[in-house]
Amino acid sequence: MACKKKDSLSIMDEFKNAPAKEEIKSGRKLRVGIIGTGWIADAHANEMLKMEDVEIVALADLVPGKAKAFAEKWNLTDARCYLSHKELLDAETDLDAVSVCTYNRTHAECSIYALKKGVNVLCEKPMSVTLDEAVEMRRAEKESGKILSIGFQPRMDPNMKKIKEIVESGILGDIYYIQTGGGRRRGIPTPFGTSFIADETAGIGAMGDIGCYSLDMVLNAIGYPKPLTVSGYKSAWFGKDPNYCGYAKDKREEYSKAFTVDDFAAGFIRLEGGIILDFRIAWAMNLDTPGDTIIMGKKGSLRIPSTECWNGSVGGPMKIYSEMAESQVETVIPIIAPPANGVFYEKIRSFFDAIITGGKSPVSTAEIIINQAIIDGIIKSAEAGKEITIEIPEV
Ligand SMILES: NC(=O)c1ccc[n+]([C@@H]2O[C@H](COP(=O)([O-])OP(=O)(O)OC[C@H]3O[C@@H](n4cnc5c(N)ncnc54)[C@H](O)[C@@H]3O)[C@@H](O)[C@H]2O)c1
Repeated sequence: MACKKKDSLSIMDEFKNAPAKEEIKSGRKLRVGIIGTGWIADAHANEMLKMEDVEIVALADLVPGKAKAFAEKWNLTDARCYLSHKELLDAETDLDAVSVCTYNRTHAECSIYALKKGVNVLCEKPMSVTLDEAVEMRRAEKESGKILSIGFQPRMDPNMKKIKEIVESGILGDIYYIQTGGGRRRGIPTPFGTSFIADETAGIGAMGDIGCYSLDMVLNAIGYPKPLTVSGYKSAWFGKDPNYCGYAKDKREEYSKAFTVDDFAAGFIRLEGGIILDFRIAWAMNLDTPGDTIIMGKKGSLRIPSTECWNGSVGGPMKIYSEMAESQVETVIPIIAPPANGVFYEKIRSFFDAIITGGKSPVSTAEIIINQAIIDGIIKSAEAGKEITIEIPEV
């Protein structure tokens, strides 16, 4: 298959964002709310506070007192605090945008409620837990005429952009096989309790936390072709083990009981255009790495070294393997320095810039719905014990 450019997405068009309000264009500060004031909300506040044209006016968290404590920590003395996304969005009638920083299970309801109120949304990754939720989010986005961007900051990494550039340059020729994923030897995240490992809050484990990054790295590079079928596997041998040494000793009993998501998953996915995607992701394993990412093409292949603690970055210089004058050659692609403000700043800034200019969502749901469909397919196939067809409803 020839590499597809972003504008040739075969599944769905990207929606046109409504033009920015006149007062925003003429310099009024963007009024922003943060929904969910846990761990990642700190990173959102930290970056937003560096932006002179943005003001954080409202905060919400289900845990009483948590939004208020967050306001104090970040010196947001004028920010109004609420006990849920609904309370915040019902009361704040002139918001330009919200960051949805809640655990995975409430991404869909918070994003949809905000879009229906006419508010632009930056939703943390993964987009949702199920494909059905992702479809509803996309529908709400379309009906609202607002932006829904998904928080994949690795997209802002110049090394990730380079992967796409290499594929689109044609130097690899037609792509036919991709292996991606990554993992940690002992890395089940429990920094603030069980929100990443309990089904009722996270819904998906390693796949939603780090697997979605691996999928995005390669699917974005090849233009997000439509997935056709998947044969999936998932397990939780480490997370459910009361002797798992990655948990603090005094928490092993509690966390192993709470663990109700995947700590390892794998999928063999057939993509439109005859491309095979071989994927695996681990929060914990008895291995250093499940392997580098490789993109194999008829004229050349790209090796992207894995990182020790997989979080969507490049573990070392990439290499292109090809043939030149009847010799087999290797070309090293040097690592490129990250943007001066960091990738997290850029992810938030690009979202605000799209609001101001009336531009398109920087990380579009037209693409990420495919990422979510693959995760959803792995779960369904693993539960059915056989290969299944992936169908993404039209929005
Ligand atoms: N982009 C990144 O690098 C990155 C890093 C870490 C986490 N994340 C993502 O961010 C999300 C949150 O992770 P976290 O570690 O901050 O979780 P967390 O559990 O620390 O915080 C989530 C907060 O959301 C609140 N919440 C849930 N539903 C709500 C609702 N309806 N209204 C108001 N508040 C609500 C919870 O009470 C909780 O305080 C996850 O989806 C995770 O995948 C992204």
